[in-house]
Amino acid sequence: MNHVFLNGDFLPAEEAKVSVFDRGFLLGDGIYEVIPAYNGHSFLLSGHLARLQQSLDGIFLENPHSIEEWVTIIEQLILMNGGGDQSIYLQVTRGVAPRDHVFPENVEPTVFLMSTPLKPVPAEWKQQGIKAITVEDIRWQNCNIKAISLLPNSLLKQQAKEAGAQEALLIKDDYLTEGAASNAYAVINGTIYTAPKDEKVLPGITRDLVLALAQQASLTVMEMPVSFERLQEADEIWVSSSTKEVLAVTELDGQPVNDGKPGPIWKQIDALYQEHKQGK
Ligand code: PDD
Repeated sequence: MNHVFLNGDFLPAEEAKVSVFDRGFLLGDGIYEVIPAYNGHSFLLSGHLARLQQSLDGIFLENPHSIEEWVTIIEQLILMNGGGDQSIYLQVTRGVAPRDHVFPENVEPTVFLMSTPLKPVPAEWKQQGIKAITVEDIRWQNCNIKAISLLPNSLLKQQAKEAGAQEALLIKDDYLTEGAASNAYAVINGTIYTAPKDEKVLPGITRDLVLALAQQASLTVMEMPVSFERLQEADEIWVSSSTKEVLAVTELDGQPVNDGKPGPIWKQIDALYQEHKQGK
């Protein structure tokens, strides 16, 4: 049976109920995390909990749990759902209150966690890479906050799907920010470029690991935005996220990226990522 955590209790998913007056439901007033677990153990949890704190600070919401409490809740949820590989979704909203744009006072936040099986990344995506389209980044000015209000991301990802692609790469003022649900990278003349951590991108936890692995392998990393023009001529393009790991983009807007195959630097990073995942 699939168990979830709601406001202090572990319970079967179908028994979990949230009020229609929840500000997450009415206003999209909340933040979230997605944490992968491999072999029954959460992966890069401290990074996710640190970003959770940053997102809560970003919307002026007090953290309802200590780090120790979050760790216990997450470990317990993984165990109750049978261990193995899982994707843990964690959401905190500003709670239940009569609808008003202004924050309610003395209201408990709603804390919800669920787990879904973490599907392996399709072998075809790893072997051949994925397709992406470029679209205008129509999101707001605080993309560093992992907000539950994902309407722009959802619209853009749907646009990608309808174009036969797996991801939309977002262009803001002529520069690549990130993917609709991933961070993005371009490799140009052996240097790995990715947008710096500012309010235009989500500070990806997978991105932190990718950059650390690249540095350990003595690859050159530049946290610098890449223009649309340079992106179109990149030797390699990648995206990364907690659920999809690191994937090579081999087709951009219907054109092959370089020779249309995952590149050598992606292969190197993916191998290091897999080793790290297995705790080597
Ligand atoms: N999304 N940028 C955006 C806009 C994202 O939605 C995500 C992840 C990332 C990558 O962050 P991380 O490496 O910490 O997963 C970057 C998650 C997986 C989601 O919304 O399901």
